[in-house]
Amino acid sequence: MKKDTTKVKWDNAYRLGMTMWYPSECLIRFMAKNFKKQIGIKEYKTIRPAETILDLGCGNGANVLFFNRLGYRAYGVDISRVAVDLGNKLLAENGFKETLICIDMEHLSFENNYYDIVVSHAALDHILYSQYLKVIKNIKTMLKNGGFLFITLRSTEGFDYESKTATKVEPRTLITGDKKALNSPFENPYEKGIPQHFFTFEEIMESLSDFSIITIEKNVESSGPDSEFVDGRWFITAQLAK
Ligand SMILES: C[S@@+](CC[C@H](N)C(=O)[O-])C[C@H]1O[C@@H](n2cnc3c(N)ncnc32)[C@H](O)[C@@H]1O
Repeated sequence: MKKDTTKVKWDNAYRLGMTMWYPSECLIRFMAKNFKKQIGIKEYKTIRPAETILDLGCGNGANVLFFNRLGYRAYGVDISRVAVDLGNKLLAENGFKETLICIDMEHLSFENNYYDIVVSHAALDHILYSQYLKVIKNIKTMLKNGGFLFITLRSTEGFDYESKTATKVEPRTLITGDKKALNSPFENPYEKGIPQHFFTFEEIMESLSDFSIITIEKNVESSGPDSEFVDGRWFITAQLAK
């Protein structure tokens, strides 16, 4: 699978309107539970000290804006130039530094032991499993000892039904097909032709063996007369050894 083609597909997705302008709900919960919780009009309770956050696959920057507003030094990387340009404009318009970089996360080479927190929502499952393992290895070098990782990944629940229209490229990785052809309520026209890995519990535990798992949750949504349309996602909070 050629990376350039995937990059072009993500660029096109953003051009066609696949933008996200709200911070992701799961990241709001993650921050409020583990780092900083808003308890009044301008009052915040610090749960753990932290300064630096990196968002991998940051899209058009809504989460990085949210982290900036909470007072963190926040950065983001994304393979889509269109998303990164939009996100940097969003940050600048809100009075923050343009801290998003257009880069393939597989080739990250940021400063070692720099980040207190690394997050990635719905992005680490859009690469091949071998690439995911490489990114996890990079994250370990960029995170400070005791640093936190929060990631969300598709689970295997949707694999069988999506296989009906998709092309399998490796175990549990599909090049997403046309879910519309299945009349699926989970149709997402923007991600057609883009890789999607469906994670097992074992893959997650093995790949994060150098971390302590703080929480691992799975949300499975099903729809249709026989609940045949399924969308499952893992939400993982983990901490690197101190
Ligand atoms: C489903 S979107 C999620 C965006 C954002 N995290 C959010 O929650 O709104 C997946 C994002 O991952 C980015 N992405 C996919 N493969 C990537 C790679 N190899 N390196 C960096 N970003 C990548 C895409 O461009 C896209 O913005």
